[in-house]
Amino acid sequence: MATVGQKVVLITGCSSGIGLKIAVLLAKDENQRYHVIATMRDLKRKDKLLEAAGDTYGKTLSLLTLDVCSEESVKQCINNVKDRHIDVLINNAGIGLVGPLESIGIDEMKKVFETNFFGVIRMIKEVMPDMKKRRSGHIIVMSSAMGLQGVVFNDVYAASKFAMEGFCESLAVQLLKFHVKMSMIEPGPVHTEFEMKMLEDVSQKEYPGADPDTVHYFKKVYLPSSVDIFQTLGQTPDDIAKCTKKVIEASSPRFRNLTNPLYTPIVALKMADETGGLSVNAFYHLLFNLGGLMHISMTVLRWMTCGCLRSRTISPN
Ligand SMILES: NC(=O)c1ccc[n+]([C@@H]2O[C@H](COP(=O)([O-])OP(=O)(O)OC[C@H]3O[C@@H](n4cnc5c(N)ncnc54)[C@H](OP(=O)(O)O)[C@@H]3O)[C@@H](O)[C@H]2O)c1
Repeated sequence: MATVGQKVVLITGCSSGIGLKIAVLLAKDENQRYHVIATMRDLKRKDKLLEAAGDTYGKTLSLLTLDVCSEESVKQCINNVKDRHIDVLINNAGIGLVGPLESIGIDEMKKVFETNFFGVIRMIKEVMPDMKKRRSGHIIVMSSAMGLQGVVFNDVYAASKFAMEGFCESLAVQLLKFHVKMSMIEPGPVHTEFEMKMLEDVSQKEYPGADPDTVHYFKKVYLPSSVDIFQTLGQTPDDIAKCTKKVIEASSPRFRNLTNPLYTPIVALKMADETGGLSVNAFYHLLFNLGGLMHISMTVLRWMTCGCLRSRTISPN
């Protein structure tokens, strides 16, 4: 249970990756400023978190079951929090989806929106009224650089994050009136199970419904570039956790937080041309005409920087 002066932080999706690292970093805060409620949809997957949390479990860290796709589960979880009092809500749970659009069923697409979009809304609807009443609180949403710039073959995933960005941008204005803060964290590639699940999924799928040219572009052009980008620019979940902690601790937290400054020019490119042509054409040439060159540049970059590009990419300062 939280002690006086401790901030109660509830995080969704803590069985792995970014959510797990945020939970552990906050629970291990040397001044014990946080009481972390780490949630996951299946408590059978708690071992990795508990191992990383060490003796903080039962002290500054507790566990609750929460499936963001179930209204009942969301309500039950929040009702189990003392006085339903949450100071910081971190909406981290999310799933990916990549591949040719023709081969993805509508049900699979809806699952992405159920988790990444409606899952966050379910959480906010349950927690926000109390924050508004108390005139304090901070809602953080794990968005993505893909919530600001679409990426080929990630159409539906990017759409789910774009939807979240629009939703939060709208809500943030109202929340400001109630002294409730809202922040988006926008990582580029991060090495977590997310990436592994994507590659595993891709290796098993046949892509029925997609024509051979599209499957070829996906498997032989997009995927190798994606792997290159992950290997060269990918951050660690620890990097994202540190960035999230900074956002929580800032006196005036920023609304948008790109964790990887190397993505700033990409967003700037989009904003610089209101016709949209500049970014669509730039991405087209990068993928289809300059793919080979990009592979060489990424390899050289990796070789020259010995992977230290990743460690330099934590923002905001
Ligand atoms: N990795 C990246 O490159 C990257 C980049 C930008 C943004 N992000 C975002 O970062 C967030 C965390 O992803 P990650 O990279 O840490 O991936 P991850 O290791 O796959 O973690 C995702 C977490 O979400 C949980 N989850 C999925 N569906 C859920 C549901 N219905 N209810 C509750 N929890 C659920 C998973 O739980 P289970 O163990 O039960 O599946 C898991 O704990 C996501 O929102 C993702 O979109 C990731």
